[in-house]
Order: sequence, then structure tokens, then C-alpha cells
Amino acid sequence: MARLAVVLCLLLTVAAAVAESEAEALSTYIVHVAPAHAPQSSRPRVLASVYSSFLRDHLPARVGRPAPRVLYSYAHAATGFAARLTAAQAAHLTSQDSVLAVVPDVTHQLHTTLTPSFLGLSESFGLLPASNRGTDVVIGVIDTGVYPKDRASFAADPSLPPPPSTFRGRCVSTPAFNASAYCNNKLVGAKFFTLGYEAAHGGAIEETDSKSPLDTNGHGTHTSSTAAGSAVVDAAFFDYAKGKAIGMAPGARIAAYKACWARGCSSSDILMAFDEAIKDGVNVISVSLGAVGRAPQFYSDTTAVGAFSAVRKGIVVSASAGNAGPGEFTAVNIAPWILTVGASTIYRQFPANVVLGNGETFTGTSLYAGTPLGARNIPLVYGGDVGSNFCEAGKMKPSLVAGKIVVCDPGVNGRAAKGEAVKLAGGAGAILVSIKAFGEQAITTPHVLPATAVTFAAAEKIKKYIRTNASPVATIVFLGTVVGRTPSSPRMASFSSRGPNLLAPEILKPDVTAPGVDILAAWTGENSPSELDSDTRRVKFNIISGTSMSCPHVSGIAALLRQAHPDWSPAAIKSALMTTAYNVDNAGDIIKDMSTGEASTPFVRGAGHVSPNCAVDPGLVYDAGTDDYISFMCALGYTARQIAVLTRDGSVTDCSTRSGSVGDHNYPAFSVVFSSGDDEVTQHRVVRNVGSNAGSTYTASVTGPAGVRVMVEPPTLQFSATQQTQEYAITFAPEKGSVTEKYTFGSIVWSDGKHKVTSPIAITWAAGEVAAM
Ligand SMILES: *[C@@H]1O[C@H](CO)[C@@H](O)[C@H](O)[C@H]1NC(C)=O
Repeated sequence: MARLAVVLCLLLTVAAAVAESEAEALSTYIVHVAPAHAPQSSRPRVLASVYSSFLRDHLPARVGRPAPRVLYSYAHAATGFAARLTAAQAAHLTSQDSVLAVVPDVTHQLHTTLTPSFLGLSESFGLLPASNRGTDVVIGVIDTGVYPKDRASFAADPSLPPPPSTFRGRCVSTPAFNASAYCNNKLVGAKFFTLGYEAAHGGAIEETDSKSPLDTNGHGTHTSSTAAGSAVVDAAFFDYAKGKAIGMAPGARIAAYKACWARGCSSSDILMAFDEAIKDGVNVISVSLGAVGRAPQFYSDTTAVGAFSAVRKGIVVSASAGNAGPGEFTAVNIAPWILTVGASTIYRQFPANVVLGNGETFTGTSLYAGTPLGARNIPLVYGGDVGSNFCEAGKMKPSLVAGKIVVCDPGVNGRAAKGEAVKLAGGAGAILVSIKAFGEQAITTPHVLPATAVTFAAAEKIKKYIRTNASPVATIVFLGTVVGRTPSSPRMASFSSRGPNLLAPEILKPDVTAPGVDILAAWTGENSPSELDSDTRRVKFNIISGTSMSCPHVSGIAALLRQAHPDWSPAAIKSALMTTAYNVDNAGDIIKDMSTGEASTPFVRGAGHVSPNCAVDPGLVYDAGTDDYISFMCALGYTARQIAVLTRDGSVTDCSTRSGSVGDHNYPAFSVVFSSGDDEVTQHRVVRNVGSNAGSTYTASVTGPAGVRVMVEPPTLQFSATQQTQEYAITFAPEKGSVTEKYTFGSIVWSDGKHKVTSPIAITWAAGEVAAM
């Protein structure tokens, strides 16, 4: 989960801005310069001086003061610069022909070892040997940096060949980060970007963080080791999840780009991290962070802008969908050129059960690692009856809490902080209530006192027991690590952000799901596992949850595919992952959604759960390149100037020469939006034969969706050579008055008997067409 105090940070930013003189307040803006007016050089010093004079030339005397300051010059992820400007200066620049767009810097939020075996990764067969474990691939991780000190996940690996010669990055040294000691043939790059953050937060970085690539939070260390950490035997979080920890691409190299600090990540720093990563020649970029709130338009979203330039260079960009579920339209990082990853469970649990005095037992989850509760019948109280239903520090009455187990409501303070507050008040334990919308999911936390988390429904029963008993008692039984077939796995995490796609409803998002619940991976020595200041524990591995954790799983798998198929584009790699993903859990049912307990939909799980060994041989791929993305943006109605922010081409895009709808974008999934009165919708696709079988015949079969007649033309595709492409059209004809739901779902499978190329279908019905909702 996003653990940084982002909301707090936004409030502080606002307060600081108001404190400055209204007229002269400086803010950071990213200025996208029209290609015709951009310097030819990409040398940082030349760029900085050219853009400084650009500002002097373009700002008339009346808005010239205070003098603007250039923070960054971009040449690889964007064309332009970030600068400290007044609102008047920004407005003036916006009106200039030579300026495409002026985008305010905003704060983004940060959104493993059993997962290799859960994913079927094996040294002896499938993707891992087919890719030589990813030894020629560098994964750039834009995050909170990396903590390599005494962390075997980032140790030099004598079995690895030298890093790929195409990589031109390096590790920077600072007093806190000794590059010659920390960097090696596994950790090949480490850089940091502070200027946007310091400008927004008053420049006091050393008070809360290390001005270096060193990860003082833990998040970036966790994500990078998940993607490509070296094998570590006997990894564990205390006694939990003991086993071998290893990254998805154990041969791949890691380059850390630290753009996230104690109060979040500034978009100008993120864009510079993309700029450097592209320049350095990484092959995959992993971004476990995203915009706060709803997804911004692609031309004003630095992740989408940076990713566009990266993908154009053949770099796969894998990003987390966000932790804002289970509401719809919550997914971010939803551009079609990004690989958007949701989060799901694996087959491992950390149960810690609540046993009430009447014998009733409720399954909970916890990573408490201290002495267990000895007594059986410990007095049980509700936080709301002892001073604070949220269990806030300083608000509970110690006389009413001492020696008791306290039930705490969700919200206001963090989960670990609730336990800390109960401990401070003298409590014996805590039971954390999950939010109602999370349904069957409770979130696991490394508590500092005996505590567990239960579902909202279980908590209702526990609260009723408290209300109806004169002297309620309970205990918590910690069951350690349990690996097994029940509950079913994978299940979609309630917090995983969902579609439909807010900006382009015809592009299904998220794309895939991957392990993101209770993942063990490396952790920093500079922060406690609970992230509480009072917690003095330091651990080499921590267990945390979020789409931040699922994203680097897919980044690592994408790295393996990149090496197994060096000729595949980022879109082809994404297509292979999507069309081979699975949708059925280990009990044979459609992957469940923990927020409802029912079957999940493609708006939650995308094309399904990644299946690395199948993705290496998908049969057909739906490819796409820069030109397709430009047509897509034309179809969205973007102006030539908005498109130029991403394309950075000298030639102006003339959308009038491009036909096709958003739904015609060559995506490996189908999302159809019926507007009332629509008779039918046809979408076009092109598939390329990447199977080893040159001559093959693929036949389409369609399942569901309810209320729609689906026609595929032609219904069979004949290939006589590898790399050959074939086109088809798929028509969705609504059968009026027959549906009772807002969305219906199905799938299309192209099969040659050996491969099954599967795409989900999502239908969004116009409100008036739904018979009875
Ligand atoms: C950095 O590490 C190298 C190699 O371990 C060591 O020789 C050097 O003394 C270290 N530098 C500092 C400033 O600690």
C-alpha cells in the first residue's frame, strides 16, 4: 500500500504556497517546448543554458521578476525543462507558439519467496532458461532508491557475465552512498533526483531522508529486489515466510532512479528519472507510483509522457494500477503504451485468529513477531468505548485499556499506528477492523503488539459480542505461515485499482494481475518494518502489499521476455503476457474479487493473471508502435500540440489524415461502449504469427458476453510464414432489452490447436439500454 504521508504533504504544500507573497509565489512547472524551437544538443550543460536564455527571451519585463530558475532540462523522456515560475510567467509561456504545454509539478504517491514457484518459474524449463535468466537486461526502477548495504539481493553475482554494453548508466557516490562499495554487476546504476521535491518542500531533504540513491524508506529496495534480486537462501521476516528469496529475473541488472522522498514523488523529478533511464539505455522501466486521485490526461501525466518516449525506444514500461480500489475508474497509469498491473494473492497466508470467550473464532491476519498472548480470556473492549474508536494515540484512557484487547475502526491513522497507540495506553492487544468495501480482505501488518486484522463482517460480530456480554473476553492465536489450497488463489486484492479506463474507455485496464499481497522482499536498514519511528526493529526482508509489489513481478517477467525475444516490441511483450494470462483460480472458478467474494471481472483482473511460461510462446501477438499510439491520440480528440508533447516530432500530426476509432487501437483486449441508439460496434485488429509453426490455421471462438451477438470476420486466419500478419474485424451487436447489468463480459480465443490466444471482452451498456438495474 502507499505508505507515504501524501495527503499530509499536499496540505503542507498548500500552506507553504499561501505563506509566500501571493503575486510572486514560485511553483515548479514542466514546460514542454515545441520541437522546432528546441535545442539540437542533448548535452545537459548546453540545454540548461539554452533554456535559461529561452526564459529570458520569452518573458517580457512586466512578468520578468522574480527571475525564473531552471531545475531540469529534458532531452530523452520529454523536450523542454522544469523551472520555478510565477503563475504569471507560466501563463505567459502557455500563450507562446514555441511552448506546447506548461504543466504544474504535482506530487505522485508510491502505490516476494514464494512468488517464483507460484508463477511457475523454474530453472529447468520454460521462460527462465529460455531467457538465460535475463542476464542481458537492465531494469530501471523509479522509486525511493535502493539499500544495498549488507543486502544479499544486491550482491555481486560471480555467475553473471559483464553487464550489457548498451547500458551507459552508473552509480553516483555521496557520503551516504559509496558507489564503489555498493555497485557491482547486479546493481549497475543508482541516481537520485531532488530538485522538484526540494523546491516544493523547502529543501530540507537531509532532515527526513538521505540526499543520495540510498533508500531510507524500504519501498524501492522491496520493488527492485522483487524484479531482479539475486537469490538469498533463508530469507524471512522474523519467522514468517521463510525460504529462498529471489527476483523474477535473477540474471537481470538493476538501475535505481530515486525520485521519491519522505513526502512523495514530484512529477518533475519522475520525468528526469525517465530522461536519465532512457539515456542510460535501460531495457525495462518499473514504476510503482502514480498520480494522486484520478488519472490525469496523458499529455499532462509525466509517467505517460516519459513512458511514451521510453516505449518508442523499445523499453518496456510496467506500472502499478494503484491502490485506490475497489471503486470503479480508480486505475492510474492507463495509457495503452504502459503495461498496467493489478494485485492479487498467492497461496500463502499469515493467519492470526480471534477467539472470543464464547468459543466463536474469526480468521484474521498479522505479522506480529513478538511473544504471543499467553492468556486465553483477556478482557475485550471497543475503542469507541475507551476514548477513540480509531485507536488514536493519546485519546484512549489507559485506565480503561490496560491489560485489554482493543477493537479499532479503520481510518484516520495507519494500521501499525493503531497497534502502537493501544500499546502506549497499556493495552494487551488489538483487533483491527477492515473497511466495509474491502469485503473478505483484511490487511496484514507487522504490529508492535499482539494484534490482528479481521474483515468488516467479522468485526460486526465481535462488536455485537462486546455489546451483549457483561464481561467480554477474547484472545488472538498466531498461526505463523500457512501455505495451502484454501482459501482459493489467486484472488484479486480489494485495494487493487480498477477500470473502466477513465480517459479511454475502449482500452481495457488494468492489463494483467500479478502477486501483490503479503510479498516478502528486501528492506532498508534505515526504516522499521512497520514504518513507525518508535519501532526500533531493523530487518533485511519485509512483507508488504500493494500494486507496487505486483508491478515489479511483471517488470522482471517482461525482462525475461525481452531477452527470450529480443525482436519483440514492448507492445508485443505486453500482448504475450495478456493473451496467455489465466483467469481461473486453483479451485477451478473465475478468479475471485476479495471486495465482493464473487467472480472478478476484466475491469479488475484485466486479461488475467500472468503466466510467464505461456507468455514465451503466445502464438500470435497484437503489436503496436508509435504510429498506432498517435492514431489512438487522434481518435481521443487530442490536438496536434497536445500530441506533440508526447511525440516531440518536428512534423505536426495531422489527425484529419487518420481514420479509426479508439476501439480500433490494436489492443490485445476488447472494451466496447454502447451509447444509446448504437446498433453495433465493429473493431479491427491485426495479429502477427510469432509461433514456431510457420503454417498454421487459427479459429476464433467467442464466449459471452450476455446481451451481445459477436461476429468475427474472417472466422479463421491462415498463416503460411512466421512474422506474417492477418487482419480481422469483430462486431458487437446489442440484443436490446436483454441485459440487467451495466457491464457484461466475455472473451475471444484464437486457437491453432497448440496456442490459445485469449482476449477479454468488456461491454459497457448505455444507461437507457439496461432493462432493470
Ligand atoms: C568506499 O568503498 C571502497 C570499496 O569498498 C573503499 O575502498 C572506500 O574506502 C570507501 N570509501 C569511503 C569514503 O568510505
